[in-house]
Amino acid sequence: MRVLVTGGAGYIGSHTTVELLGQGHQVLVLDDLSNSSEESLRRVAELAGRPADFVQANVGDAAELDAAFTSFRPDAVIHFAGRKAVGESTRLPLLYYRENVAATVTLLETMAAHGCHQIVFSSSATVYGSASEPPFTEDAPTGATNPYGHTKHMIEQILADAAAADPSLSVAVLRYFNPIGAHESGRIGEDPKGIPNNLLPFVAQVAAGRRTGLQVFGNDYPTPDGTGLRDYIHVVDVAQGHLAALARLADGAGCQTWNLGTGRPFSVLEVISAYEAASGVRIPYQIVDRRPGDVAASYADVSKAGRELDWTAHRSLEQACADTVRWQAANPDGYAQ
Ligand code: UD1
Repeated sequence: MRVLVTGGAGYIGSHTTVELLGQGHQVLVLDDLSNSSEESLRRVAELAGRPADFVQANVGDAAELDAAFTSFRPDAVIHFAGRKAVGESTRLPLLYYRENVAATVTLLETMAAHGCHQIVFSSSATVYGSASEPPFTEDAPTGATNPYGHTKHMIEQILADAAAADPSLSVAVLRYFNPIGAHESGRIGEDPKGIPNNLLPFVAQVAAGRRTGLQVFGNDYPTPDGTGLRDYIHVVDVAQGHLAALARLADGAGCQTWNLGTGRPFSVLEVISAYEAASGVRIPYQIVDRRPGDVAASYADVSKAGRELDWTAHRSLEQACADTVRWQAANPDGYAQ
């Protein structure tokens, strides 16, 4: 297939592009490089043995998007591009509504104008919020708690409405739990700009000596060791979930939603131990107050994806930590070197 990958230079996008190229698909990456680097695409080409095409543009730029559709003529779109920092979204909500919600509307209009009828969308387990108890099934009540989460939830609604109105449109909504790890080659991985918001990149930078210690946000949750429970999933498993969803889209129209997780939660302290074992480095940490907006536990019921996509996550937390250690050791400053 000819697949347009928005945000394909980013963390999950780059790993998915490697898998797409490996399966013989033609790929055009459209990315504005606002939170990613073109170096990731050079390495994707090296891993896959051939390059993806690349256009540096923002998805919300209708003229650039139209030109990309005219020249590349995609059969399907995988839509990763978007902003994803919860704290930033509460400070700059309109930026999130423009770059996430409005840009997706532009993308859907452009797809319709060019007769492209298949889209896989990067959603997030954040849409479950605290409206129900894990393990979350796809039909669990949703309740996002911040502007970033609201944008994901709104885009899901827009996609469902668009598919209901257009019988030729086929949509896969993938709700990721907590993607971690790196390609096992150590050539591509997560390269957050500034201070990492998420646990694994922060732990990796502490282990590498870039930061002095980790703050554990609360140990008084109703969980076995009091720290938060999350469903950490290897980024290559997430990438392969996209190929499984893409294969299902060809089967028919409508809007369908699948969780991408492992179904097995780990606590913050368990993640620290796993990373210490993989790196051989002790991670100093300090227990501090809960982070506002965090939930005690978030993990997936993964049976629907197993049944309908014939996909399950295969890689362990240990492997994800080992792959992150390899990526971090070979690229101490990420792609900037
Ligand atoms: C966070 C976002 C979520 C987003 C996801 C991916 C929040 C509230 N949620 O999920 O909306 O979809 O990232 O970008 O920001 N932790 C620490 N110390 C740290 C960092 C994290 O103890 O320095 C703990 C957290 O309290 C949590 C766990 O580690 O229990 C995982 O945190 P994180 O990696 O930020 O992911 P989520 O909060 O699940």
